[in-house]
Amino acid sequence: MRSWWSSVQTDPDGNRRTITYTAEGPALVEGPVELVTADGRTIRSDRCVVALCLCRRSSIYPLCDTSHRKRRRPTEQ
Ligand code: FES
Repeated sequence: MRSWWSSVQTDPDGNRRTITYTAEGPALVEGPVELVTADGRTIRSDRCVVALCLCRRSSIYPLCDTSHRKRRRPTEQ
C-alpha cells in the first residue's frame, strides 16, 4: 500500500518542498510557488520563501502582511 506522501510532487531535483509553521505567524513555504485559492485565483511567486497567512487577518490573504503581529483582543473570562 502506497502512502499519500509518495504522491507529493517534487521539484526537478527530487527534493521535497519545506513548509515551516511558525509559532504565532504564517507558514513559510519554499518558493517559487503557485497558489490556487478557494475561489479559483492563481497566485504565483518567484520568491525563495512565501509567507502564507494562517490567522486570516491579512489584507492580502492568503499571503501574510504581518497583521498577525498586532495586539490581540484579551479573551473574555
Ligand atoms: S499570519 Fe501573518 S497576517 Fe496572518
